[in-house]
Amino acid sequence: QIRDRVFKHKNYNFVVGHTTPEYIDSLESFEIKDSDVFVVTYPKSGTVWAQQIIISIYELHGNQNKYSNNMERMPWLEYKTAEYTLLPSPRLFASHLPEHIMPPGVKEKKAKIVYLMRNPKDNMVSFYHFSKALADLETPESFDQFFEWYITGNISSSSWFDHVREWYSNREQYNILFLTYEEMILDLKASVKKICNFLGINLTEAAISQVVEKATFQNMKNDTKANYEHLSPERFSGKFLRKGQIGDWKNTLTVAQSERVDQVLQEKLGDLPLSFIWE
Ligand code: PPS
Repeated sequence: QIRDRVFKHKNYNFVVGHTTPEYIDSLESFEIKDSDVFVVTYPKSGTVWAQQIIISIYELHGNQNKYSNNMERMPWLEYKTAEYTLLPSPRLFASHLPEHIMPPGVKEKKAKIVYLMRNPKDNMVSFYHFSKALADLETPESFDQFFEWYITGNISSSSWFDHVREWYSNREQYNILFLTYEEMILDLKASVKKICNFLGINLTEAAISQVVEKATFQNMKNDTKANYEHLSPERFSGKFLRKGQIGDWKNTLTVAQSERVDQVLQEKLGDLPLSFIWE
């Protein structure tokens, strides 16, 4: 039963064991600093990719990186893995939280948010493979079963459609940069420059090229700080950097499933000026 692995709190599905309702409640008074930087995503939208880029940018800007992996340098806000008040500035965080659970201080435009969105067909295929590989998540019996969980939001992290809708429609209240996974694939250098500009960091062309080099799929696959190989094989049995492509959904979704996504997309997000790259 999917319910065994998730708990609903504040209208959002968290993974049992990753966090607690009490800790999530405490985020209401989590103090935000002007220098805080967040990457916010629905899972499997390129979070580790943005983490690698942002960490490299700060490293080349003079912030020593003495951490053993990217999760230590840029931890999850909603899973308390360290005493976050003691972290040196700039604090870098990753988060899958929906807009309505973000600490209120972020809303006062204090911190910066890079929001990364991926098209939902590729996103669900990536999430499906991840659900089979990560022991903490409910293992789907088939893609068809997973598809129903995803479309209905009856899954950890709830609905992709709600996540994107909430963040996008409230974007004016935040200091936020919206980027897509697809534009990063199509032009990584331009995306790195956009992120630098947003963070207010001026890097030389050579430094930008270094960030790009560190963030290629192949380099990240071999980078033990970025590829999640710090997880034990019992806990995670797949490859975190699996395919890294646009359009892999065509190998998995049926025509009927693809049309259903188009239909739900129209129903739930059709009024927003969002466009998607599918291949
Ligand atoms: S998580 O678990 O939410 O943190 O996962 P997340 O990092 O958001 O998403 C993982 C997918 O992003 C792909 N990825 C990349 N693609 C291209 N280039 C680079 N450098 C890169 N880094 C991560 C990763 O391969 C997962 O997608 P799939 O489609 O499964 O390969």
